[in-house]
Amino acid sequence: MGTPADAPPRRPFVWVNCAASLDGRLAYAGGTRAHLSGPEDLVRVQRLRANSDAILVGVGTILKDDPSLRVHWDLLGEPPGRSPTRIVLDSEGRTPHGAKVLDGTTPTIVATSERSTRTFPTSVHAIVAGRTRVDLEVLFARLYERGIRRLMVEGGAEVLSSIIRAGLFDRMTIYYAPVVIGGASAPPIARGPESRGPEETRAVDLVGLERVGEGYVATYAPRTGSMAPQP
Ligand SMILES: NC(=O)c1ccc[n+]([C@@H]2O[C@H](COP(=O)([O-])OP(=O)(O)OC[C@H]3O[C@@H](n4cnc5c(N)ncnc54)[C@H](OP(=O)(O)O)[C@@H]3O)[C@@H](O)[C@H]2O)c1
Repeated sequence: MGTPADAPPRRPFVWVNCAASLDGRLAYAGGTRAHLSGPEDLVRVQRLRANSDAILVGVGTILKDDPSLRVHWDLLGEPPGRSPTRIVLDSEGRTPHGAKVLDGTTPTIVATSERSTRTFPTSVHAIVAGRTRVDLEVLFARLYERGIRRLMVEGGAEVLSSIIRAGLFDRMTIYYAPVVIGGASAPPIARGPESRGPEETRAVDLVGLERVGEGYVATYAPRTGSMAPQP
């Protein structure tokens, strides 16, 4: 019989969100940032951020886009409220010193591995999770222990691949902009290990479809169900 010690570690409710072209690209050639969301979708994304305890991206997104990962309350027409914690997956500590996420204005966590010798400003909380690369299950359990119940994952391509492949998400919303980017080097929604057959793919259920501005938002849930509690 199982004991509490056997129980799987709890993790936050994980909501993956991204904006893609019709051919499933997150950015232009070589990863140059693309502003794919129209004004209506920007408001939807800000609402998702505002409803989250934390917003997570990979260090690749920090290096390419230098996002602030803040809630833009002006777009919501609301006075500033609680700021979600910013989280960066950065196994080796490659986040540039001048990156906006290190500006100390909002609670920030950098998740590293044992490989990292980097020190961060005192305003940043570093979590070592994993030996050579950030172990998502370990990290998510630690985030849950810290009170993070709703986690929004914004990308980029490698992080989305890791989270989707591992089935570590509960909802996925993709805004499809009415544009085709094409080419070979524009990052896809999920960039990671190859799928050699259907057994290596991740099936999802379409649970919502909505026109948003000039594009549409498709909402998916993992087909196998979720181990995480509902928020
Ligand atoms: N359209 C959108 O909605 C959207 C949103 C976000 C980003 N983007 C685009 O996405 C592109 C960046 O994507 P990217 O794939 O280069 O970078 P990324 O997914 O943001 O970050 C990838 C990096 O995260 C680190 N990492 C640590 N642990 C990981 C884990 N368990 N799984 C996966 N990654 C882990 C790895 O570096 P270390 O091993 O060094 O830690 C990895 O190289 C940019 O072009 C950006 O504009 C688009």
